[in-house]
Amino acid sequence: MKKKVYLGTNTKMYKGIADTVVYLEELCRLTADISREALELFIIPSFTALESARRCAPEALVRLGAQNMGWEEQGPYTGEISPRMLREVGVSIVELGHSERRHVLGETDDMINRKVLCAEQQGLTILLCVGETAEEKARGLADEVLRTQLKAGLFGVDPRGTERLWVAYEPVWAIGENGVPASSAYAGERHATLRRTLIELYGPEGGSRVPLLYGGSVHQGNAVELSREAEIDGLFIGRSAWDARNFAAIIREVLAAG
Ligand code: 13P
Repeated sequence: MKKKVYLGTNTKMYKGIADTVVYLEELCRLTADISREALELFIIPSFTALESARRCAPEALVRLGAQNMGWEEQGPYTGEISPRMLREVGVSIVELGHSERRHVLGETDDMINRKVLCAEQQGLTILLCVGETAEEKARGLADEVLRTQLKAGLFGVDPRGTERLWVAYEPVWAIGENGVPASSAYAGERHATLRRTLIELYGPEGGSRVPLLYGGSVHQGNAVELSREAEIDGLFIGRSAWDARNFAAIIREVLAAG
């Protein structure tokens, strides 16, 4: 019997307030009967939709996350949003190091590490995203990249901090319109590398409790197979989860197969 399954989506820069509310209300209605003991459902909307999202979706059904965060509690950082501000609107998860933040917006491992440490201090659950580019994969560097991103991103995190740490493996070449999903075998191997690295960093207890999620072109046709891999504890879905009916169908299929 598998542990709790982690299923969630990041709506990127697509849904505004009205769309987020309609989506969340429908998703809550369609999944209300599913026991949350077996399912950790989380949604990561745009910043502006967070407060409305919290009002329309009870925490007992859906945990809410932010797509990014500044690395101080407050200060002269124009345009940044601090963990304290996120907590104020009912957010308990922060997604850090998504591929688009690293590769489109120029975030470095060092910036991500500062955010990780700040989120840890503020008691937020960290969803750290890691993943190799197509070029790195072609050169046989995938595992090295994953180990580096993990070790650099988590530098200074206390073993107790792993209680509130999730890691998403999202190969850059698998994400978005032009992405090709990783095969379950390939994803399973990379997840095994991540698990070994976490155990190296935090010992068997701390390293084993961190949920590992796969993301990158997950859809109804591959979700079950991916979720059956030993070290895949959940799925982090983009496009295929942005329609509530579609997402609810994936959730039911993955839970039924578990
Ligand atoms: P897609 O599922 O649309 O490829 O996006 C994945 C992703 O970026 C989740 O964070």
